[in-house]
Amino acid sequence: MIALAQCRAGFEREAAADVAHLAAAAGAQVRGDIGGGAGWVAAELAGLDRRRWREALAASPAVFCRTLFIGTGPHALVPAPGSTPQARGPVDRVTPLMAALSGLDATADALWLEYPDTNEGKALSTLARALGPRLETVLRERGLLADASAPQRAERNRLRFHVFLADGATAYVGTSIAETGSAWPMGIPRLRMPGRAPSRSTLKLAEAFAVLLGEREHELVHAGKRAVDLGAAPGGWTWQLAQRGVRVTAVDNGALKGEVAQDPLVTHVRDDGFRFRPRRPVDWVVCDIVEQPSRVATLMARWMKDGDAQRAMFNLKLPMKKRYAEVERATAIIDAGVGDVDVRLAFRHLYHDREEVTGFLERATPSRRATPSRARPRRG
Ligand SMILES: C[S@@+](CC[C@H](N)C(=O)[O-])C[C@H]1O[C@@H](n2cnc3c(N)ncnc32)[C@H](O)[C@@H]1O
Repeated sequence: MIALAQCRAGFEREAAADVAHLAAAAGAQVRGDIGGGAGWVAAELAGLDRRRWREALAASPAVFCRTLFIGTGPHALVPAPGSTPQARGPVDRVTPLMAALSGLDATADALWLEYPDTNEGKALSTLARALGPRLETVLRERGLLADASAPQRAERNRLRFHVFLADGATAYVGTSIAETGSAWPMGIPRLRMPGRAPSRSTLKLAEAFAVLLGEREHELVHAGKRAVDLGAAPGGWTWQLAQRGVRVTAVDNGALKGEVAQDPLVTHVRDDGFRFRPRRPVDWVVCDIVEQPSRVATLMARWMKDGDAQRAMFNLKLPMKKRYAEVERATAIIDAGVGDVDVRLAFRHLYHDREEVTGFLERATPSRRATPSRARPRRG
């Protein structure tokens, strides 16, 4: 089988390390070198047990893979030059793709047509848009794809078909499970830049909530919650929180910009984010300070250990070469730093993250210092 992962161009080594870790956790062997191209990697896996792969994905999701599926490939979509005499007319890519998809011996609820998130890859978007509906029609005729109008099945382990166009002549096909897979084709969220937010990094926090909290997003981030934003200026993350009705203490020596500076839910504190602590525990600490990952990891662990926040969402900046090792180091620092406090930790290289990853840390049990927050009406 092939494991195919998409990532930000330039992060192929890290995505390959993710795949190798998952394969090892699932008891599979990686055959040969992990290959691929800009923005994607493909690994041939031997001895893959799907149940163990699923468990490995659920236990420790990939950090740098935007999407990840198991399947087959590469499949040639156009005859090799000089092989058989080509009939005139447009190239039929549907027939070889249908043969490849049928060979997966699976049925799915959706079909995702994907291509590398690079300038070369974007040239394939027209082809992908044309192929998608045609493939869906044939897949439905053959009973391999659920009807779009049918209510979504509630059971676990719903599958998605992936067709990844490596280029116009080559594709990989496979399936991923909705629960453990990306929320969006190519891992690209459908988030529009809010015109009133003071900085584009507001999208990072919006994506972090969507990806790392999933269905719990509305339960955990809503009016009545309290947050501290360390390194808040110019205010994109604070804006994102206040927009959801969260009361925010924005800590930064720099100025907040735009409407967030006057927002009654926001208190601006000019202080050092590594020193500041709230008088009483908060629901969230978020941190976007540009600092060494080890310092930020130590800080977040301390907030958790001391019970100053129930949950943390933070960025680790990774300008160094050994990015994967740096994330592992931060994980070890947090594990050691929280002591005997039971926490859950996940890192993800989000679509809106550049040379950085986003971490989500939460106490498994409420802090004894924490006080229940009173619900306030959501702002319009
Ligand atoms: C990447 S920006 C934050 C952007 C912000 N999250 C947003 O969405 O607009 C980093 C901020 O961290 C602040 N900063 C750097 N070191 C800090 C420290 N020790 N304490 C508090 N803020 C700090 C900088 O002043 C800067 O405004």
